[in-house]
Amino acid sequence: MKAVQLVESIGPSGLRVGEVPDLVLTDDRVVVDLHASGVSFPDLLQTTGSYQIVQGLPCVLGVEGAGSVRSAPSDSGLVAGQRVAVLALEGAWQQTVSVPVGYAFPLPDNVSLTAASGFVMNHLTVHFALVERARCRAGETVLVHGAAGGIGTAALHLAAALGLETVAVVSNDEKAAVAKENGATHTVLVDGFKDRALELTGGRGVDIVLDPVGGDRFTDSLRSLATNGRALILGFTGGEIPTVKVNRLLLRNISVVGVGWGEYIRENPDFLVQQWDALLPLLSSGALEIPEPTLYDMENAPDALLSLSERAATGKVALALR
Ligand SMILES: NC(=O)c1ccc[n+]([C@@H]2O[C@H](COP(=O)([O-])OP(=O)(O)OC[C@H]3O[C@@H](n4cnc5c(N)ncnc54)[C@H](OP(=O)(O)O)[C@@H]3O)[C@@H](O)[C@H]2O)c1
Repeated sequence: MKAVQLVESIGPSGLRVGEVPDLVLTDDRVVVDLHASGVSFPDLLQTTGSYQIVQGLPCVLGVEGAGSVRSAPSDSGLVAGQRVAVLALEGAWQQTVSVPVGYAFPLPDNVSLTAASGFVMNHLTVHFALVERARCRAGETVLVHGAAGGIGTAALHLAAALGLETVAVVSNDEKAAVAKENGATHTVLVDGFKDRALELTGGRGVDIVLDPVGGDRFTDSLRSLATNGRALILGFTGGEIPTVKVNRLLLRNISVVGVGWGEYIRENPDFLVQQWDALLPLLSSGALEIPEPTLYDMENAPDALLSLSERAATGKVALALR
């Protein structure tokens, strides 16, 4: 089968498309022929060895995808031909994957395989962030940084489905339009976002900040929070890891909350099925929409990653595998 492998830790140019040996199949796993696979910022970090998990080379990048079940254990609840989304932690930028039962999720008919290919990582992360870590309540307001990106657009859609209002923070007008198309209640530019967030909430502040960007905007994120607000730390696309002056936390009973979805599910693998059970009714009813990703061919995987590093991507990016 064909795969995109990282052969050298020199950035996106270290990727090669080629043939890899077929999988050694075992009866206890679900085998899925993938149609497409999601591309995420952590994949970019992996190409330079700067992600928290460093893999030996060569390795297949990607952790998610969607396709058709080729075979599944009889007690898995899945049958051959069924459309599923998968979490494939051993690499997903390849035409076939084998995953443990509980890592393949049946898709409703109204969700396309391409849309589902980039669903698992970002949507389950933002679900974990908003529901489990922030304990969000319908009617609250969440400020989303990097709102036109992969995590950002997933957060806008899930927030809408959970009854939250959103303030989408973006770096330019084109991205503001993308955030609006993805359901943002309000859009604001990075410059001056704190004052706009306070204005939009009548001076009260937002209840939750969801931050995959980090960098020097963090102090203003804390200043944007209402009393009892929660700042969710997801990542650092801006490069710099911020520090917190903790007096700001006690003055208004603010919490800074770490969100490490990958870590959490490694320790609690059953949580994945709980998350899917919570999200499936929202997907089936159309309350949670998944937009189509920007698709690249396998040969253009380096360009897919460059669109993330150059801050040019909007929405989710994915690789077509067939
Ligand atoms: N904690 C977890 O469990 C978890 C799970 C998945 C992903 N993540 C993290 O979430 C973050 C976002 O991932 P993603 O796949 O959504 O990335 P993405 O699609 O590239 O979006 C990232 C956004 O960050 C903003 N940004 C600000 N400075 C940037 C810079 N110097 N370079 C690139 N982007 C910059 C951009 O928005 P503007 O241009 O509008 O500022 C961009 O849209 C990553 O740090 C990733 O590691 C965390």
